[in-house]
Amino acid sequence: MPAKPPRTIATITKISRLRKRIAEWRAAGESIALVPTMGALHEGHLTLVNRAKRKATRTVVSIFVNPGQFAPHEDLNTYPRDMAGDLGKLTTAGADLVWSPDVDEMYPQGFSTKIQAGSASDSLETEFRPHFFGGVTTVCCKLFNQVAPDFAVFGEKDYQQLCVIRQMVDDLDMGLKIVGVPTVRGRDGLALSSRNAYLSAEERQIAPTLNQTLKSLAEAASRGQRLGSAENRAKAQLIKAGFKSVDYIVVRDAETLGVWSVKSGRPGRALAAAWLDKTRLIDNIKV
Ligand code: PAJ
Repeated sequence: MPAKPPRTIATITKISRLRKRIAEWRAAGESIALVPTMGALHEGHLTLVNRAKRKATRTVVSIFVNPGQFAPHEDLNTYPRDMAGDLGKLTTAGADLVWSPDVDEMYPQGFSTKIQAGSASDSLETEFRPHFFGGVTTVCCKLFNQVAPDFAVFGEKDYQQLCVIRQMVDDLDMGLKIVGVPTVRGRDGLALSSRNAYLSAEERQIAPTLNQTLKSLAEAASRGQRLGSAENRAKAQLIKAGFKSVDYIVVRDAETLGVWSVKSGRPGRALAAAWLDKTRLIDNIKV
């Protein structure tokens, strides 16, 4: 007899129901790992789910497209959504619960408290998306309070986000551990991203240049070449490849995201954000 397909994963949309389920798990002595997402799930997200499953006995995946981290001119309304597809993937991946509140449940009438992100958010993304990290830290703080997990799993794909979340959890004594997972890429090196769905066939061909350029920059930096000129060369390389503009392509201290030099002996990180027409891609690699 063919094996029975697994029952579709449970979805909870109300905080009161979520707390009840979490309390039942806690009473049974279970541990909990949370994977925060905005849905439109791909292999990158599913790798985080697998990591979460190895850390705890229960895995909760939140799916919430957070209006708090989009500026009015950004892609909140067109952000890819595929709840049916996401539930299928999470069922197969063996997650235990989807936490998917609507906007009114997350931000009820009168909501006004915000978390101000720390120094890891001072530059890079913030120069181009000043609203972004306040929105991310506020929603992640809420998700951590709602699910009360032992672990929360984040991707290195959004490296500055990972640093900002680690800093928030340390600074505010939040009682959970943050687990970072290396970036999952296509065979051509392009980091998987929900926003890759926006790319035309031609743009998709150009997109892997972002990763290749970061690799040459990281190599030049680790050989001790002058950072300013290596960064300028990298920028020119991206424009030549067909990127419309480059927000940044730089090498920073891997922990503080402040200034880095090879002489510091500290780990560095090469990070970039660049536009292929109307699509903004980000990526980063170790130096
Ligand atoms: P989202 O872009 O959906 O990403 C959810 C998580 O998946 C993040 O931790 C992100 O770094 C990770 N991720 C995305 N692509 C990845 C890849 N190719 N390899 C490894 N991990 C990858 O990031 C957010 O949502 C939001 O800002 C959120 C944290 C949910 C707050 O709203």
